[in-house]
Amino acid sequence: MKATKLAVTIIGSCAISFSVSAGNMTGANAVMLADNCAGCHGTDGASVGPAIPSIAGMSAIYITDMMNAYKSDDIKSTIMGRIAKGYSEDEIGAMAGYYAAQPQARADQAFDSAKAAKGAKLHDKYCEKCHSEGGTLADDDSGIMAGQLMPYLQYSMDDFHNGDRAMPKKMKKKVKKLHKREGDAGVDAIFNYYASQR
Ligand code: HEC
Ligand code: HEC
Repeated sequence: MKATKLAVTIIGSCAISFSVSAGNMTGANAVMLADNCAGCHGTDGASVGPAIPSIAGMSAIYITDMMNAYKSDDIKSTIMGRIAKGYSEDEIGAMAGYYAAQPQARADQAFDSAKAAKGAKLHDKYCEKCHSEGGTLADDDSGIMAGQLMPYLQYSMDDFHNGDRAMPKKMKKKVKKLHKREGDAGVDAIFNYYASQR
């Protein structure tokens, strides 16, 4: 009796490991992989560390593109270059799918309401075209601005400006225009608007 029960258990677990090694990433495997990211990006991708972005609810395409850019050192990064190199295309796809399916995270952070009000208008004029629906739309494949941690957004902008990350050409044009008219206060107001979105 005992032996039969054991055999059933072994056959059962073999079936599970076969389905994983078949290259078809299962849901359980995606959860296990994503667990490696949670220490920094928070449970289900909702970050609590100010310099680490929330990745919950971003599009799978955006997450995959970013991971590949880190992997190939197209974007200079503090940490992600080393991390991304440890994962295969299939594994990145599985994690991207997992995080894309999570509800977007909106950080509970301080902001200046006067700046946020001004930032909302500036966003509409200079950023909405690509960061659609107030920076909430995942399907525009340009990240999620709404509720993203403000220090992270500022680091990203610095990376764009000092060439560590290539700024999309048309975004560059808009940011330049904004800077000419509003100075550094323009982007600051827009980031306060994103922080105000809960
Ligand atoms: C040790 C901390 C750490 C771990 C672990 C980590 N990340 Fe990151 N992640 C960061 C930091 C910090 C950044 C900002 C870029 C940089 O400086 O490396 C980032 C950026 C990103 C971005 C870009 C987000 C955006 O807004 O553009 C994605 C996507 C991402 N990580 C996915 C992952 C995935 C998937 C994993 C798990 C395999 C992971 N990260 C594990 C710290 C981490
Ligand atoms: C023509 C389209 C376009 C416009 C206009 C645009 N962006 Fe972007 N933006 C993008 C894309 C695409 C990305 C994805 C990042 C990449 O390609 O590296 C991005 C990324 C970003 C990021 C980094 C997000 C992250 O999670 O790492 C910030 C911050 C940002 N944009 C701010 C702005 C602000 C502020 C404006 C308005 C002044 C603006 N963008 C206008 C297309 C645009």
